[in-house]
Amino acid sequence: MSPEQSDDEARDADGGPAIRRLADWDADQLRELADDHGTPLYVTDLDRVAENCARLRAAFPDADVKYAVKAHTGRAVLETVRGSGLDAECASAGEVGRALDAGFGGGGVDYTAVNPPARDLDAVVEWWEEHPDLTITVGARDTLDRLADRGFDGGVCVRVNPGVGAGHHEKVRTGAAPKFGVPYDRAAEVIADARDRFEVVGIHAHAGSGIHGEEDLAAHRDLVSRMGDLARAVDDADLEFVDVGGGFGVPYREDDPALDLDAVADATREALGEIDATLAVEPGRYVVADAGVLLTTVNTVKPTPETTVAGVDAGMTDLLRPAMYDAYHAIRNLAAADAADATGDAAAGREVGPVTVAGPICETGDTFCDGRELPVPARGDLLAVGNAGAYGYEMASTYNSRPRPSEVSLAGDVLRERETLAGVTRLEHGGADE
Ligand SMILES: Cc1ncc(COP(=O)(O)O)c(C=O)c1O
Repeated sequence: MSPEQSDDEARDADGGPAIRRLADWDADQLRELADDHGTPLYVTDLDRVAENCARLRAAFPDADVKYAVKAHTGRAVLETVRGSGLDAECASAGEVGRALDAGFGGGGVDYTAVNPPARDLDAVVEWWEEHPDLTITVGARDTLDRLADRGFDGGVCVRVNPGVGAGHHEKVRTGAAPKFGVPYDRAAEVIADARDRFEVVGIHAHAGSGIHGEEDLAAHRDLVSRMGDLARAVDDADLEFVDVGGGFGVPYREDDPALDLDAVADATREALGEIDATLAVEPGRYVVADAGVLLTTVNTVKPTPETTVAGVDAGMTDLLRPAMYDAYHAIRNLAAADAADATGDAAAGREVGPVTVAGPICETGDTFCDGRELPVPARGDLLAVGNAGAYGYEMASTYNSRPRPSEVSLAGDVLRERETLAGVTRLEHGGADE
């Protein structure tokens, strides 16, 4: 069994194609959105979000599929995901609040508390009083005590450190990092302690983010099998679910094959074995990555001996992944329609050469690609950066006093307004005028 599929194989009647490449986006539509709303601009295709959810539901028909909302917490995305029948996995009180606001019922909200600040626990326990079905996933005995101190005696899930990590970069391989979850060999003991004070509804582990390829899949299988063993060992706990995390990878490079989700689902069920509880998974990136592009305009073109530096109006403050994880994102030139070739792609006749697409932030790492073979851009060209829907806007910052970009739906509705400088400084006090 291979966890990868070719483009031709990768079709699913329930959820559209398994891959949506940057080349598949309609260049005219993107250019029009950039003309109407300016750049930098995130464009989110909510229909694609729904397709991705449908594919997940089809691959895991008997599982509880929870969307890891950290990948994209925009209201329209949350509502689309909820409407597609997924639950919500939240990493902070803020995410819990936004999921509840978007209409996820308490029973569909799971708060995975990682070293939770007191303010987060206070807020979530208050929401739990209104939504008693809400689940809190804890990764330390301390957190159980802190919940008990607040009068919480509801549904608890115990996060286990399975000792198995996987993913696209060391910074996202959570499974073996001591920060996350109680050590595997102490899990049964912590579950027993938790059962004295709370209703233990599940156990949880997450290997990491961006699982793609045989090696990652083997790690995922290993994790799932360990979780199956643990579930059977604590059989008397009457668990409702065993959550084996998310991390399903997406093809970031133009020639990366799609993840064969059915094969991953089969491998997951097989590795889990017989358990008296529901399987749960919590993908984030898979739901939204290929539903989003970032549009940016070339403002400066500088030939250098090694590369042509194309300065653009988006930077690491808009899309952090390349700077943070050395992540590859496809880049497509949507040069003016009259100069475009038959595919609507890069301007016809443009020379292809090494291009460095660099943002306006005063950091060397502020580049979307370095010396990549691309049609050499001209000032004013519109570039699209692919697979920007996951961990794109969510990781945006205002470093260098750069207001965050706007986000629109593919249909042209404004989902998030462009931030202004007044927005950036609105929390500041002091200064000569006060
Ligand atoms: C606990 C947990 N669950 C799910 C996810 C989602 O991962 P991905 O977006 O790669 O599916 C993450 C990502 O960091 C996570 O930490």
